[in-house]
Amino acid sequence: MKRESWQSRIGFILAVTGSAIGLANIWRFPYLVGEYGGAAFVFVYLLSLFLLGFPVLMAEIIIGRKTQLNPSGAMGTLGGKRWKWVGMTTVFTGFLVSAFYSAVAGWILGYLVESFRGTLSHLSTMESSVAFFDTLLGQWQFTVGAHALFLGVAITILLFGVRDGIERGNKIFMPLLFLLLLGLFGYGLLLPNADKALSYLWEPDLSALTPKAILAAVGQSFFTLSLGQGTMITYGSYLKKGENLLLSCLPIVLFDTIISLIAATVVFTIVFSVGFEPTSGPGLLFHTLPVVFYQIPYGHFLAPIFFLLVTLAAITSEISALEPSIAFLMDTWKFSRKQAVLLVGGAVFLLGIPCALSTNLLKEWTLFGLTVLDGAMFVASGLLIPLGGFAAVVLCGWVLGVSPSLKELRRGSREVFDRFPFLYRYFSFCFKYLAPVLIGIILINALLSG
Ligand code: PHE
Repeated sequence: MKRESWQSRIGFILAVTGSAIGLANIWRFPYLVGEYGGAAFVFVYLLSLFLLGFPVLMAEIIIGRKTQLNPSGAMGTLGGKRWKWVGMTTVFTGFLVSAFYSAVAGWILGYLVESFRGTLSHLSTMESSVAFFDTLLGQWQFTVGAHALFLGVAITILLFGVRDGIERGNKIFMPLLFLLLLGLFGYGLLLPNADKALSYLWEPDLSALTPKAILAAVGQSFFTLSLGQGTMITYGSYLKKGENLLLSCLPIVLFDTIISLIAATVVFTIVFSVGFEPTSGPGLLFHTLPVVFYQIPYGHFLAPIFFLLVTLAAITSEISALEPSIAFLMDTWKFSRKQAVLLVGGAVFLLGIPCALSTNLLKEWTLFGLTVLDGAMFVASGLLIPLGGFAAVVLCGWVLGVSPSLKELRRGSREVFDRFPFLYRYFSFCFKYLAPVLIGIILINALLSG
């Protein structure tokens, strides 16, 4: 069976952008900025993208493109037998992420349906909004059903393969998402208090920049770029050998960042326009926004558009979290795509059930105060994802070696390197020292505090 590849560079860019842009951009980023002091947080986040996120992304793409294999096969080929297991761990991380991600995205799907039905428009106070959220998530039929539905959409796209499924899906969903977001952005800027919302995003409050905020910024930069879980290795493995990696990947980081900033602006302008503050943490999207939407002009139309936007972003991310496991089964055990997709889809559905039940039937099932869903998120984002990123840079910087890694990176991007020779130093320093040391510190911190 011939391995598939992306049809075009733009197809690759949209697919990776689709993976990157997701709940982390539209839900998590705005509330983190709200919680951790506006521009101060944004600054640390941007720094973390430059020093950690981008180099780790390039390391993963190098590993994938060089070997044209799934994460386990790729790491094993470059580093030997033990690395095969490291790669397998990253595949498992993607598998775990796709399970809880689907459970949470199911809630968004529920809000999308409810906004179309007009139910959300009755939520005129914060109390009623919180009560609505709790009642909805308290029903296991809803959380499990929504998880199944959301996963079903992702699985259906994946059945069509790399070009006809992932690439085509992203080519449709991504432009639609940009359009909807830009529409909301323009609208938000016309609302009262838009200037306040903008200054909130751009004026730093240094007192909020605690170590916790810094860790959150670093974690955000990893999660939003879909790093550390085999996704980028797998997407890189579908790239043709002559592709210019730098020119393909730089726009992705830029798009992802711009979308986060625009999403935060949209949320803040809407929230500020009726005098609310964006400091309600994770509840910002589910508690605050529904109340606010129905107090602004055209809110009845805007709410469904907003939740549709978030749903589209989540679907393109979900498929990218599932693909490493599918590629693994296809490469290693020669499954057909259909068999692999159905098996992975079934397994993720089962694993996602306890996550979906965490807000109702299994609410009392806690370990160290964490429900199954919280626990899965903590283990993935706090431990496994940094570990996967650490493995990728160590593999490129130390095991494969900086020269061979940069040789792979230069293939197809020679002119860029000739023009900006400092890139050699930047990548060598990041692969070899900076990224491993910083991620090492994060991991140790997570282990000690966890
Ligand atoms: N990057 C996605 C987001 O921002 C999340 C994601 C993580 C997707 C891992 C795929 C794999 O929401």
